[in-house]
Parts: sequence; structure tokens; C-alpha cells
Amino acid sequence: MKIYEFSQIEHQLAPVFERHGCEAKQLLQILLDVQEIYFFIPDEVVTYIANRLGVSRVSVEGAVNFYSFLSPKSVGEYRLLFSDNITDQMLGKNELMQYFCEKLWLEPGKVSEDNLLSVDSTSCTGMCDQGPAALVNGWPLTNLDQQRLDLIASMIRDRTPVSSWPSMLFKVKDNIHRSEILLGTPSAAGAAINATLERGNVATLREIEASRLRGRGGAGYSTAKKLSDCLASSGKSHYIVCNADEGEPGTFKDRVLLNSYADLVFEGMTISAKVVGATQGFLYLRGEYRYLRRKLEEVLAQRRIAGLLGRSILGESGFDFDIEIHLGAGAYICGEESALIESLEGRSGRPRNRPPFPVTHGYLDQPTLVDNVETFACVSKIAEYDSAWFTSLGTDQSSGSKILSISGDCARPGIYEYPFGVTLQEVLDDCGAEDAYAVQVSGPSGTLVSSKEFLRRICFEDLPTAGALVIFNRERDILQIALNSAHFFAYESCGFCTPCRVGTQLQKKIIDKISDGYGTAYDLEELKYIGHIMRTMSHCGLGHTAANQVIDMLEKFPDAYKHKLKKLVFGPAFDLDRALEKARKITGRDDKLADFP
Ligand SMILES: Cc1cc2nc3c(=O)[nH]c(=O)nc-3n(C[C@H](O)[C@H](O)[C@H](O)COP(=O)(O)O)c2cc1C
Ligand code: SF4
Repeated sequence: MKIYEFSQIEHQLAPVFERHGCEAKQLLQILLDVQEIYFFIPDEVVTYIANRLGVSRVSVEGAVNFYSFLSPKSVGEYRLLFSDNITDQMLGKNELMQYFCEKLWLEPGKVSEDNLLSVDSTSCTGMCDQGPAALVNGWPLTNLDQQRLDLIASMIRDRTPVSSWPSMLFKVKDNIHRSEILLGTPSAAGAAINATLERGNVATLREIEASRLRGRGGAGYSTAKKLSDCLASSGKSHYIVCNADEGEPGTFKDRVLLNSYADLVFEGMTISAKVVGATQGFLYLRGEYRYLRRKLEEVLAQRRIAGLLGRSILGESGFDFDIEIHLGAGAYICGEESALIESLEGRSGRPRNRPPFPVTHGYLDQPTLVDNVETFACVSKIAEYDSAWFTSLGTDQSSGSKILSISGDCARPGIYEYPFGVTLQEVLDDCGAEDAYAVQVSGPSGTLVSSKEFLRRICFEDLPTAGALVIFNRERDILQIALNSAHFFAYESCGFCTPCRVGTQLQKKIIDKISDGYGTAYDLEELKYIGHIMRTMSHCGLGHTAANQVIDMLEKFPDAYKHKLKKLVFGPAFDLDRALEKARKITGRDDKLADFP
């Protein structure tokens, strides 16, 4: 491998350090730029960065190995990552990836010999309404088919820079099909901040309390309570963090909010900053949405010009607040708020012990409010209109509306905003899901709902959701849903605690075994037991929910797996034949004796 000279590295990285500064908390942002320069993070550069930032080599190496968009080995000038959500698979992702690899004589996961290209799978890229989707060097590719892949292959062979590829390849549509108070009522930039200044801090907090707004990121915690806890916490500084990690497979509503309603989101952050007395905010943008960054920076710049960010916002002395965009690098766990803060501070995104919670000990150990993109948009609307307007929609415990990301087997996938309390059946009718058999509500960490439950309501009292709805018709193999989810969690587990690290791997192996036709009744009991251990003993929400789809399948869809079981009471936890398949290929032997030399 090529050895990089110190002086060469220093010269090449000078603009990177100029852009991000020389503080340890910028490590991830620096590494993302370095990955773009070399197509990997060379060993000598790890040492150089560690020295420049005054951190250990191990912590830099740790981050390189933790984030899937960083790599210690070259991934080639072009890195094509196919989105591996169940919806992409339903739309033919596996076949297309194979077609592309065969066309270019490539093996998935390996870089071509000329170091030009690598092709691999990645967790959901948040474009399920227009899949099969992929990312090429961070640029989004939608509606992939053989024709588009032929074009892409020829441009890669010709070494055409991705920035010169036809723009139609990168078109990501909003696909908004139904609007309510968030997406459907107009808001001029600054209107909500003006209303906040007129009302005053205390009354604004009371208004948010009266709105009964609950967080839209999944857990549904009271937003007013978080604001008042953060306000009451003492510290050198207070921080506002917008969680735009949106990693739950099947969710893409935050993508649309950021693309077309960014002012609303930034305004909600600014109002929250006014309430708790924060001067600095961060938008933690998932690496998969890197292509939105430029547009978002432009919105921020416009807001600074308009006096909506910066010093003395709208002429109010002492009201100083600004927002910085921080990129993630392909790690689902970084959506968990304490892991996100670790990542913001430049480290690997491993969840912290809680309590203490971020509202008292968050970014740099200071009081920090972490809210979802949609939650901030709601805060802005409540401040501009009022709580009565907001609570005119929804149910007792779930006021307002919910934006749903709908994909899978339906005629009109996309974005639908409903008052809380809408039944699943109404949603299915609206999006043209005529033959729905099952719905995954809130992604792999959520609930797999059978057609008997379609009269259940979307709300915190019944079916809570961060926003993802994936629809499956009668033709679909439910076992594949559990399999996709088991693989997802085994890949995304951060490995910190044993129940989740081991449990997700065992769960994956057993589901693979059942899918291959070697499962037994014993395996089903094992799955339940592993699920119980993960739910009750894991360190964070990822482990608590990693068995949800598998357990729902076992309980609600027995037909999905019963015919696949061998009628044995016991069977080994892995398939020996399959494990030896690679060795057989290498030795060219296919006889039984080859197994036991
Ligand atoms: C594994 C995991 C992933 C998560 N991903 C996200 C995410 O992508 N976006 C989000 O807003 N919340 C996510 N959350 C929830 C956050 O930890 C946190 O509760 C949320 O950002 C709080 O915002 P809210 O009160 O506005 O909902 C995740 C939680 C877990 C356990
Ligand atoms: S539950 Fe999983 S993701 Fe969470 S800390 Fe444990 S290993 Fe990491």
C-alpha cells in the first residue's frame, strides 16, 4: 500500500483543518473530508490527525472503524452503496446489484483491482418512496433499473466525475400527498420568532405546554417538560440539537421537512434557544442526507442576512443564536440522543449511561435539548399560531398531526400528514394499498401489524410511530421482513453491551437457519428467549427493540415460518454445510470428505 509522506499529508489536509479547526470534537467532520481525499483513511493520516488533535491514535482508529462511511481500506474513486431496506429489496435491489457487479466484473464489498470502484449494500438511505435507491460518493440515486445502471457503469468506466452525471439520476422528489397543519399552512420566515418575542419566554413555554406537544422522534416525551428541565439546569452554556439522523428504515419525512420546510425547523430551534437561553445549536444531519447540506447552508445564510440568526436576533438585544450543521457518517445508533452527542463531540457514537439525561448533562456536559426535526417544526407552528389551534387536531394524549412516510405495496408512496387518531385502514385506502396484508409501523424497531389490526389508530395511546409505514401485500414473504430486520440490527448494534451484541448475532443466525429450511421448534423458543434478554437487559433502545419484528412474526404470522421448519426438536444453531461452502469453492472440492480433511 502507498506510504504517504508527512509533508504531503500536511499539505493535503491544511484546508481540512482550516475548515473545521483543530479541536478533538471536530474529529468526525475531519475524517469525512479525509475519506473524500484518499477514498479511505490511511494509517499515516490516522497518526497525523491524532497528533494534530492531541488525541490517542486508538480513538481515531476507533472512529474510522465505527462509522460505516469511513474506511481503513480503499473503497475506490467511486463508491456505490445500494440501499438495503426491505422496500428496496421488494423493488429488486438484490437482482440489480448482482446485475451491476456482473457487468463490471466486481464482487460486492471489494474494490476493483484498478482501485476505481466498489459496490456494497448500506442500511436504508431514506428514499423508500422512490427506490431502488443508492448513494454514489454521497449523491442520491433513485428509481434504479438496468437502463440507469448501464449508464452509470459507462460513466464510471469513462471516469466521468459524479458532479457531471445527468441530473435526472439524482432527482429526489418530496412526494407530498396529504397535508395538514404542518405542511399545509403558510409560515413566513421570522413570523414565529416575532410571535415569541411578543409573547415572551414564560408565556411561550406555557403555550407549548398547553399544546401538549410530544416528541415526534419516537418516544413521545413531553416537549414542554424537556424545555423547562433544560431551562432549569445550570451550566456554562445551553445547547439546542436537532436530531436529523432519521436512520429508522422506512422513514423519510425528515428528509422532506429539511428539503422544503427548513425555515420552519430552524425557526423552531431558534425559539427553543430563546426559551432555554441557548446560543449555539446543531443540526445533526445523517450522512445519507449529505446532499442536502448545501441547500441547508444556504437557508442558514439567508436567515443570518434576515436577522433571524446571529447576534441580537430581530433586534432583540441579548438574543444571540446560531446553528452549525454536523454530518453523521452512516451509523443508525447515532439517532439515539446520547450516542448522537458522543458523535457531535467527535467520538464513536456509543450511548451513554442515562441518567443523567442530555437536558442536564448533554453536549460538552452542558444542558442540551435534543429534539426531532418534526418536533421543532411543531414548536414553530405553535409559537406562530397557538396551542388551541394545534390541539384542535388529534386525540387526548396525542395532539396535533403526524407526518407519515409511506412505502411498500401501495399505488402512491410518499408523505402523508394526518391528525393523530387516524386509523391504519384510512391511511391504506388513501395511499392505494388495496391488497394490504401486513404493515410495519415505525420501522424494524416498531410493530408488525396484521390485517386484523387495521382499525388500530395512529397515536401514542394505540400505535405510536416516529413516522414509517411500510406496506406488504399477500404475495410477500413475512419471514423476509423478520430476516431483513434481524440483519439490520446485527449490523447496526454498536457492540457496547453483551445482550445486544450477542443477541442480535444469534437472532440473525437463527432466522437465517429457518429461512434456509433448517429451523426447528427449539429455534423458535430460542428466538423468544433471546428477544426477552435483549428487551430487558440491553443498554439502550436499539437492543430493547431489536427483536420486535421477529417476535411479532412469531406471534401473529405463524404461516410465515411453520412450513419452513424441519420436524426436529433440536437442530444446530448454524448450518455447517453453508459455513463450509466458501472453503469448498476455494479447494474446488464438493465431496463429503472435503469437510473433514
Ligand atoms: C436506536 C435509536 C435510534 C434513534 N433514532 C432517532 C432518529 O433518527 N431521530 C430522532 O429524532 N430520534 C431518534 N431516536 C430517539 C432519540 O433518542 C430521542 O428520543 C429523540 O431525538 C428526542 O426527540 P423528540 O423528543 O423530539 O422525539 C432514536 C432512539 C434510538 C434508541
Ligand atoms: S443495546 Fe446495542 S446499540 Fe445499545 S449500547 Fe447495547 S450494544 Fe450498543
